[in-house]
Amino acid sequence: MTAASEIAQLGNPVLRQYAEAVVDVQASEIRDIIATMQSSLAATSGVGIAAPQIGIAKQIIIIASRPTPRYPLAPLMEPTVMINPDFDVLTDNQEKDWEGCLSIPGIRALVPRYRDIRVHYTDPCGALEDMQLSGFVARIFQHEVDHLEGKTYLDRVENNVDIVAESEFFKLIATTKAP
Ligand code: NI
Repeated sequence: MTAASEIAQLGNPVLRQYAEAVVDVQASEIRDIIATMQSSLAATSGVGIAAPQIGIAKQIIIIASRPTPRYPLAPLMEPTVMINPDFDVLTDNQEKDWEGCLSIPGIRALVPRYRDIRVHYTDPCGALEDMQLSGFVARIFQHEVDHLEGKTYLDRVENNVDIVAESEFFKLIATTKAP
């Protein structure tokens, strides 16, 4: 398996760059980047990763919702590689929920995101994909696409009061029962 990369941390300029579109999705360079992203994500408890987080300013993300200690209610899905992803908002409904980021350890925050979106991307074989996402998976997608535009979830936080230490976050979710 391809070795995992270090994860770029907040303050690294690559996290503030606008990522380039991928032209040849089947180029060996792109395959290598995807393999490194897969290994890097698998080495963490994260539910998504964007290429800038391994230091590559290209428009590639992986979303991989799964229940974790951070997101105990997350749905389980196969890790999905999305190249040149984009989305349309289906309704104006936004909801706030907790997010964290491999590039910003130790912190969690409540972030408003669109609940229902229609996403478009190219898969690693070059096929155009189009699907509707909602809730937590739509949230991960929007978080990762932000990374491709030089944004982090902290840029979306409405009020600094919504930012908490991870240790306090775990206390909060421990007292919040699943519906
Ligand atoms: Ni992130």
